[in-house]
Amino acid sequence: MRTHYCTDLTEAHIDQEITVAGWVASYRDHGGVIFLDLRDRSGLIQLVCDPTENSAAHESATGVRDECVLVATGRVRKRGEGLANPRLKTGSIEVIVSDLRVENRSATPPFEIGDERVHEDTRLRYRYLDLRSPRMLEIFQLRSRVTHAMRNALDEMGFLEVETPILTRPTPEGARDYLVPSRVHPGEFYALPQSPQLFKQLLMVGGFDRYYQIARCFRDEDLRADRQPEFTQVDVEMSFCDQEGVMAAAEKLLEAAFRAAGHKVQLPFDRITHKEATEKYGSDKPDLRFDLAMVDVLDLLTQTDLKVFAQIAQSPHTNRIKALRVPGGEQLTRKEIDGLTEFVAKFGAKGLAWIKLKEGALQGPIVKFLSEGEQAAIVERTGAQEGDLIFFGAGDKKTVLDYMGRLRNELGRLLKLADEKSYRFVWVVDFPMFEIDEGKVNALHHPFTRPKSLDCEEVEQIESIAYDIVLNGYELGGGSIRIHDEQTQQKVFELLGIGHEEQREKFGFLLDALKYGAPPHGGFALGLDRLIMLLSGSSSIRDVIAFPKTQRAQCMMAEAPAAADEVQLRELNLRIRKPAK
Ligand code: AMO
Ligand code: AMP
Repeated sequence: MRTHYCTDLTEAHIDQEITVAGWVASYRDHGGVIFLDLRDRSGLIQLVCDPTENSAAHESATGVRDECVLVATGRVRKRGEGLANPRLKTGSIEVIVSDLRVENRSATPPFEIGDERVHEDTRLRYRYLDLRSPRMLEIFQLRSRVTHAMRNALDEMGFLEVETPILTRPTPEGARDYLVPSRVHPGEFYALPQSPQLFKQLLMVGGFDRYYQIARCFRDEDLRADRQPEFTQVDVEMSFCDQEGVMAAAEKLLEAAFRAAGHKVQLPFDRITHKEATEKYGSDKPDLRFDLAMVDVLDLLTQTDLKVFAQIAQSPHTNRIKALRVPGGEQLTRKEIDGLTEFVAKFGAKGLAWIKLKEGALQGPIVKFLSEGEQAAIVERTGAQEGDLIFFGAGDKKTVLDYMGRLRNELGRLLKLADEKSYRFVWVVDFPMFEIDEGKVNALHHPFTRPKSLDCEEVEQIESIAYDIVLNGYELGGGSIRIHDEQTQQKVFELLGIGHEEQREKFGFLLDALKYGAPPHGGFALGLDRLIMLLSGSSSIRDVIAFPKTQRAQCMMAEAPAAADEVQLRELNLRIRKPAK
């Protein structure tokens, strides 16, 4: 219907007859002459309906309101002296309308398009109106451009795009499955894939050598700002490669994605081991836009008069006493320190001791318990200087590393330590293969990850060939080299407490495939939504998904999930138990 998008029009089109189409963004009646701002995907242009020029067009315009749908034909002209709008790309011109077709009317919208103060639930309920805002359009244009660039980059590297099933068996990635009942097999269920993990490995056994997919994944887990129940991965797998090969491919892919978004990234990315990341930064996804590293001071405090610390220092293997030096932290007020103490208490901290280095001396409530030797050793170990503050976290290793890592991030936010515009990538490598949670052994990455060696005294010491790519404190992606022989796979299942029968039942097809010449292989998956969230500077992953779910996993617009009707349930052989109150 249109000849041009609104903002394609420039002074070069003056006196040409053109047709534009879109929505009414604003309406002003100036004593007979009606001015309309017309909005389409590109932006805005001013339409003028002047009764002295064209009475029919003016007549049509009188009934128009915000968000009506118009197709307007007219002549481009320069705006009158002093009437240009420098904030608009088309601000020096306007269209004097000769034909105005109202294609559709609009009820009064529940909110003004683009008003970011509107409650998110309302925006999500009317997501199609929310999507009309320039900000949303910008995000989805970016998403499309970046996805396209990644497809191209993968294609150039020789990867084959293959689709894998949505109706399948559960793939363990650590979350709950979404189940789909089968009508044909009463009482049986498909699971929606948590990732295409097993299928992509089987494609390697199938000889495809290099696979990728922009894959939808489904995980029934507790949601956060960076998690959705269905989300998209750029999923990659390759054969006859080692960790270096996979990481190089991932870096090239990210380089292409960032280039498409207008950013240059420096390759190769830095690396840090999992152990170093957790011991120094208290996180397996450290935000390295700022330093604030922790040091261990447990060995310095075994004899201290500060009884809590001395006691904790007796068990150096299971406990930690960490010191976090905050350069210039002397400026933190008592109130701020109390606030931080309350903050870490939420994550299990029993206290948050601190000392300041001020006027050449150590100050703070715990100083009197520290001998001169201990004081000097702490200053030396932390590298503390005049004006610095040191926080101490003491207790069991897991708790201390966790809350000190959170404290580090909180300080980064409070003291504005990160350059908001920078992108700081880091590979976290050498992940442990297993973690023990309440006595149960779990795979840290997933059970198909290749362990470096299974010859270790304790399962917790077993390292895996797994790596995560971390950006500004977010886990952007992860991957591993996989097990490609049946025996190792069985051993790992056994260590996870999955017995022979269960192995056959759940993963028989994988174990079988490993018998028939599985090549060495590995891969990774990037969280596309997280990537776009970071590239667009959005604070929530919901902003970069066209129709996202709320924190309670609901679609406000379609009102999903919803009850199924009786007929459908009967067909599926299902009966709903009254939910427990
Ligand atoms: P993993 O489980 O680490 O690995 O997932 C890869 C990446 O997917 C993103 N992601 C999510 N994004 C939004 N919402 C979620 N709920 C969510 N869960 C994960 C993250 C994460 O880094 N099969 C393996 C990959 C492999 O080994 O090749 C896997 O799925 O950015
Ligand atoms: P207390 O002897 O309990 O009064 O503690 C002395 C100081 O040490 C206070 O500033 C506490 O906040 C701090 N503190 C106590 N327990 C811990 C701990 N486990 N880790 C860090 N600081 C602590």
